[in-house]
Amino acid sequence: MLNAKIEKAINGQINAELWSAYLYLSMAAYCHKIGQPGMAKWFETQFKEEQDHAKIFYNYIVARGGVVTLKAIDKVPTTWKSTLDVFESTLAHEEKVTSLINDLYALAEEEKDYATVSMLKWFIDEQTEEEENAQTIIDNLKMIKDNGYGLYMLDKELGARTYTVPSPLAGKE
Ligand code: FEO
Repeated sequence: MLNAKIEKAINGQINAELWSAYLYLSMAAYCHKIGQPGMAKWFETQFKEEQDHAKIFYNYIVARGGVVTLKAIDKVPTTWKSTLDVFESTLAHEEKVTSLINDLYALAEEEKDYATVSMLKWFIDEQTEEEENAQTIIDNLKMIKDNGYGLYMLDKELGARTYTVPSPLAGKE
């Protein structure tokens, strides 16, 4: 059985993950608009991934006999200044998510809920990867600057991203 504090915090995280999904879908639409279909596909993949993150937390509440409470998802920005701006916003957002996961982890430890601590370990590693991915793209964009050919190649590379269902969800989608 989940204690009330942990249940509330995980329900909050479900909302944060769904907001992230919504944000990335909006970023995908922006990339389509500015003629970067590969980047758009990269964000569409992020959109799927964030929904899966929400589903992992949802499955966890169900497995622990808790109550899932889905709240309204706030609106998201619809435009950015440039490709660099959209990926810098991605990194800033992922850093915020990392701090939310860290807060959850600290709460689970404080409440001596070691099952939740264990479940969150996957997310701790995932956040390192999320931040690293965004940072790599930012570095590439800074190197490319306004070079059209460079942007074209990066767009192609990002468009080749394929999606793998996160391991905690494999077989439980
Ligand atoms: Fe669910 Fe991008 O962290």
